[in-house]
Amino acid sequence: MEKLHVKVPAVEAGGYDILIGGGILTDSVIAEFVADRRVMLVSDENVERAGILDGIKVPSGCEKFIISPAGELSKNISTVTAVIEKMEAAAMGRDSVIVGIGGGTVGDMAGFAAAIYKRGIAVLHIPTTTVSQADSSIGGKTGVDSTMSKNAYGCFWQPRGVIIDVRTLKTLDERQYRSGLVESLKHALIRDAEYFEFLETNVANLLIRDEPTLIRLAAYNCRIKAAVVEQDPTEKNLRRILNYGHTIGHAVETLCDYTLYHGECVAIGIVAASMIEQRIGIGTRERTNRIVDVLLALSQPVRIPAQCSIDGIIDIIRRDKKSVGAVPRLALIEQIGKACCKDSQWAHPVSTDIVQEVIAELREVGLE
Ligand SMILES: NC(=O)c1ccc[n+]([C@@H]2O[C@H](COP(=O)([O-])OP(=O)(O)OC[C@H]3O[C@@H](n4cnc5c(N)ncnc54)[C@H](O)[C@@H]3O)[C@@H](O)[C@H]2O)c1
Ligand SMILES: [Zn+2]
Repeated sequence: MEKLHVKVPAVEAGGYDILIGGGILTDSVIAEFVADRRVMLVSDENVERAGILDGIKVPSGCEKFIISPAGELSKNISTVTAVIEKMEAAAMGRDSVIVGIGGGTVGDMAGFAAAIYKRGIAVLHIPTTTVSQADSSIGGKTGVDSTMSKNAYGCFWQPRGVIIDVRTLKTLDERQYRSGLVESLKHALIRDAEYFEFLETNVANLLIRDEPTLIRLAAYNCRIKAAVVEQDPTEKNLRRILNYGHTIGHAVETLCDYTLYHGECVAIGIVAASMIEQRIGIGTRERTNRIVDVLLALSQPVRIPAQCSIDGIIDIIRRDKKSVGAVPRLALIEQIGKACCKDSQWAHPVSTDIVQEVIAELREVGLE
């Protein structure tokens, strides 16, 4: 079992541990984090159906909340209210702990409920998807969607600990599993060339969900995300590099009406960013091809679907929170493993003409 420690300055006791392993999800490991606190276990119906909760005994005095339907549809304030009121009805005090077991939607809701229940209680994250193990369980972002936009309600709330058991990934749907790996590729591209080579040579092992490979993957991801979060816990600047591939990716995600998964859209966004880098002289065709090869091996899309118009994408990017005066700003890399930083900024203005050209090329010609 690997143990990492994340230092977050604003957190009581200075940080928290992330445990990584295969088959480590046992009562004793959970008990180590929870001690004698009362537990509210939050999970969803698919995670329960997959048998992931079976080995976990809920001690007396503990409560369980199973979210249904699973996924984004339930990631709203009503679900959080229901969790909180169940805790209140059970007279759970400020010394209780919420244990969230599931993907990013469960983690975001469990974290948010913990952040606001009686002005904040402890939360333990047990992520069970490729997205949540690489991304959402680390960094302390929590929140839920409004009827108008994603993550409209939310706050930063650091967990008491994170337990990553890669064995839980065995039951995850294939498309979810593969698209979630794109966030891992993103981490490698912005921070770690050796990690990128590890991905290039281990795609086949990842596809068969080989446990030792997944443990190494989780360790790389956690080290990278933790390092970025430690330096910029509330996303003032450096943390923007985690948006690599996300600016154009989000635009595609919106315009295709969420028929593509988030990771699939980020895959397209990464290819677009890589082509922009070529045009502004900090990238090469060879680098783009290496990235595309990994994405194709993971069966990810690398072209912009026809239904996304160039104007539609440009319009969304101009309104992106990083844009300044309608000029798009993008996180970019200057080498594999090295995000680009100019004038202490990690998001860079790119002329609309260049963005437009790249989108046109990705729609018409593609790279396959
Ligand atoms: N807080 C952050 O920093 C952060 C970062 C990235 C994403 N997110 C959020 O995370 C969410 C996406 O996360 P996700 O992709 O994990 O989605 P998810 O939680 O909806 O999980 C995907 C699906 O897989 C099921 N599932 C989960 N684990 C399973 C398992 N082991 N076996 C079988 N089925 C399983 C779920 O029930 C769900 O149907 C989004 O809401 C996004 O906004 C948050
Ligand atoms: Zn993402």
